[in-house]
Parts: sequence; structure tokens; C-alpha cells
Amino acid sequence: MSIHTPKIEKKVTLTTISRMKGVEPITMVTAYDALFAQLFDGEVEMILVGDSLNMSFLGEEDTLSATMDQMIYHTKAVCNGAKLPLIVFDMPFGSYTTAKLAVKNATRCYQETSAQAVKIEGGKERAHIVEALTKNSIAVLGHIGLMPQFLRSEGGYKIRGKDQEDIDALIEDAKALEKAGVFAIVVEGVKIEAAKAITEAVSIPTIGIGAGNVTDGQVLVWSDMFGFFESFKPKFVKQYFDGAKDIRKGLEQYRNEVKGREFPSEEYTY
Ligand code: KIV
Repeated sequence: MSIHTPKIEKKVTLTTISRMKGVEPITMVTAYDALFAQLFDGEVEMILVGDSLNMSFLGEEDTLSATMDQMIYHTKAVCNGAKLPLIVFDMPFGSYTTAKLAVKNATRCYQETSAQAVKIEGGKERAHIVEALTKNSIAVLGHIGLMPQFLRSEGGYKIRGKDQEDIDALIEDAKALEKAGVFAIVVEGVKIEAAKAITEAVSIPTIGIGAGNVTDGQVLVWSDMFGFFESFKPKFVKQYFDGAKDIRKGLEQYRNEVKGREFPSEEYTY
């Protein structure tokens, strides 16, 4: 049975998130526009403007062609819609290949949107990028495990942490990111044993997606959890609403009423 929790009434800050580790699970969802961000306001602690929008909104095969301009546009919209959650800007593929480029692009994100942090994918090999960003007063959310931006170089989406060697490598990544200054880490697509070991190894919160219920928080892509994205449904996605089905039902009724001259009735007519 699920518990009843109150709505969030105060602005969520980086300190709020840090203090939640080991105290209360952190909730995070993605959002891409003001309309839905407004609905999510006060319901979750964090919103990620994920580059997953390239797939669910633009209809591309993967996230790799998302651009800075596109991410800025959507982040502005989300910031206009949601005032309370901590909003994270997902740095698109190719926008943080060097420390200099990462600082330039993340600075643009801070100057052009009111997002409070950026997210970058990668483990210890990206620690120097995190360090450059945090030294330039930019808050960073890490992302390890299955990393969608590595899809082509890895040859597919691969679940991580299947043996001790890989669990140790993931722990090493998490520790390197923590040392470099990330305030939290997204842990995606890993075996539950790996998620537990990573969560216990660091003192910052871990936010799981496809990582079991042992992380300090959870994140889901909103169009997956509300049943709008039908192209594929990973095992870890729980559907909380039947969006696509209900929209089709509504559209069928609209079509029938328009064609039957039932809509607009007197009630909807000047
Ligand atoms: O882009 C995204 O939505 C993400 C989540 C899957 C964490 O990175």
C-alpha cells in the first residue's frame, strides 16, 4: 500500500536534495514544456529537462542529435511552468567534450534559463569536466550506468553491474564524480546489487532509473510513466496513467460528435 505524502510547498534547493539522503526518498520526473511542468509543480522535488525529449517529442531514434538551442528552448518553457522543483538541464551529446566547451555551454544554460544545475553523462573519465563546471559555480548532476548518449559507441543499451568487476568500476566512477563535486548522481539501468553498492559508497544522493528501490531517489521520463510514449516500454517503467489510450478515446468522441453535428451544441455556441 502506498503512503500519502503532502505536496511540496517550498522552493527545492541543492541543500534540500543533499539533506534528503538517508532521510526521505527524492522524486524526480522529466518535463519538456510549460504546460506539463505546471502540473508537476509542487508534486516532485526535481525536474529534469532530459535530452530524451529528442525521442519522445522530436521523434528521433535516439538522444544524440539534441542541440543546445533545443535544450535551452525547452528548459525556458519548463522554468516558466514550474517554480518549486529544482530544475536540471541535460547537457546534450557533444556539448561537453572538453572542459572549456562544457563551461561555455553550461554558462549559456545558466544565463539563458533559470535551471539550477546541469546533468552530464559519464564516469571517472568525465570527472575533470565536472570539476571545471563546479569550479565555475555551476552545479552538476552526474549520470552513470546505462548512459543513452553512449548508445552508438557501446553498441546498444546495456544493463550494467552484472558482475563484481563492473560493480567496482561503477563505484569508482561514482566516487570520482563525488570528489569532483556533483551534488547527486543518476544511476540508470543497473542491477539492484550495483545500485545498492553505489548508494552506500557515496555520501551524495543517488537517483535511480531502472536501478531498483535501493537508491536515494527515483526518476522517470514523464511520457513513459503517463503512457504517452508507445514506441517501446522498458521493464522498469510503471505506467501511472493511460495517456495514449485516453487521448485516442477523446479524439474518437470529438470526431464522432463533429461528424454527427453534435458538437458544438448550443452550450458551446455564441
Ligand atoms: O534524458 C533523460 O530523460 C534522462 C533520464 C533517463 C535520466 O537522462
